[in-house]
Amino acid sequence: MPVVRLDHETDFDGWRAAARSLRQQGVEPQHVVWTVDGATDLFSPAPPRADEGSAPSGVSEPAPPPASLSPPGEGGFRVPKPFVDLAGQVIRHRSDERFDLLYRLLWRLQETPELMHLLSDADISRAGHFARDVSRAVHKMKAFVRFRLVQDADGEAYVAWFEPAHRVTEATAPFFMKRFANMRFSILTPDVCVHWDLNTLAATPGADPADAPREDALEDYWKTYYASTFNPARLKVAVMRKEMPKRYWRNLPEAALIPDLIAQAEARTSDMVRAAPTEPSRRVVKAAVRNSRDAPWDGQAPTSLEEIAAGVDHCRRCDLWRDATRGVPGEGPRRAKLMFVGEQPGDREDLAGLPFVGPAGQVFDRALAAAGVPRAETWVTNAVKHFKHELAGKRRIHKTPNAGEVAACRWWLDAERRIVRPRVIVALGATAGLAVFGKPTPVATSRGEAFQLPDQARGVVTWHPAFLLRLPDEKARTQAYDAFVEDLKFAWRLVA
Ligand code: URA
Repeated sequence: MPVVRLDHETDFDGWRAAARSLRQQGVEPQHVVWTVDGATDLFSPAPPRADEGSAPSGVSEPAPPPASLSPPGEGGFRVPKPFVDLAGQVIRHRSDERFDLLYRLLWRLQETPELMHLLSDADISRAGHFARDVSRAVHKMKAFVRFRLVQDADGEAYVAWFEPAHRVTEATAPFFMKRFANMRFSILTPDVCVHWDLNTLAATPGADPADAPREDALEDYWKTYYASTFNPARLKVAVMRKEMPKRYWRNLPEAALIPDLIAQAEARTSDMVRAAPTEPSRRVVKAAVRNSRDAPWDGQAPTSLEEIAAGVDHCRRCDLWRDATRGVPGEGPRRAKLMFVGEQPGDREDLAGLPFVGPAGQVFDRALAAAGVPRAETWVTNAVKHFKHELAGKRRIHKTPNAGEVAACRWWLDAERRIVRPRVIVALGATAGLAVFGKPTPVATSRGEAFQLPDQARGVVTWHPAFLLRLPDEKARTQAYDAFVEDLKFAWRLVA
């Protein structure tokens, strides 16, 4: 039985070379044992890579110490790039099954070249799960590494202790290097430590939590900042737990604040609803009113997001304001590179004055997290800024805005586009498609593509999150949700 010894837990090159060699020699997946050489690690000299035990009867022995493995690209078979990308992710998963699973897929790809597209296949689905776990771990690492200030012989440096769910430290280190290019730092983890000295990124063996400092003077600032940016009206405990799983809490200074903030959220939300909205300045209101109530189409365009927010609330360009509580402006950073456009605020958004905070917003948040897209870095808005509905008893039932209402409200959307200047605009659903592209854009046939827009942005259309909620069939719902997540990832890649 061939035993392949890989150099270390994420030895992708070793796995790839051994797998290629074994495949060429016709060694079936069930006859290979994959191990990681326990006596060595990433930082020791490379051990021999493959050796053999006794072969089961009928199975020929491979002849593979590593020196004899074929170099990449030779050997008469090719695998599709999506498989190589998938394998590069899966190898970072902590499951011991991963090498086996990947070799089985490699083996099967030769007989079934379309295998990568068979999403219901058990091996493909498992590998997909592993890859998603790994990309979630990358996302969590980017979000939850907390540096602490230390002094060493060269001055100030920052050290973080982190326990990633999967072996993603080295893959994620370049992200920190780019973000903190001017800061000397080390990220210590049980698997491997990475260090940036302003010139090079280096790796050393895994560390112990005791090696990392526990507290520093910056911590209080960070806790104060976290508590002040915590918006109780947006609290969704289940989503929050999912986003910030408890396994990360022990290393997060702000985690100590969470139980109290959750406990106080309800009372704080009621206070916020009762409190009068913050008044925009007189200049902003004047400009807004000029642009909305009285101005014709060629009125003076708003020049700031504040003007838009105030203007939306005063807008009389169509009749929807009559039955709505307020106009709901977009939300996000002024220079967001990615803009999402929904249809119109729903019941909850109309009350809260914020886009996508109700049930559709929860699906949206979950899908964004799954796709690794930080909502806080995006501009989220709607094609129509007032809630269109009809009454059924005491309930306000959503009604789709018509083309005239969408056209009237483009004044505001166009202004948001001019000011935010996103690189990519994602239309969520057909109404948003009409607003963003200026013509009917059927989702089913247009999704998955990027279209050039006149303002230099690229436009993408995908499902509306509420559409996913409405699908009656579980399977169709899961498929549409997965497709939605893929579309979000696609848009995020376009931004990059
Ligand atoms: N649906 C939308 O299109 N937008 C929202 O803000 C909420 C629900």
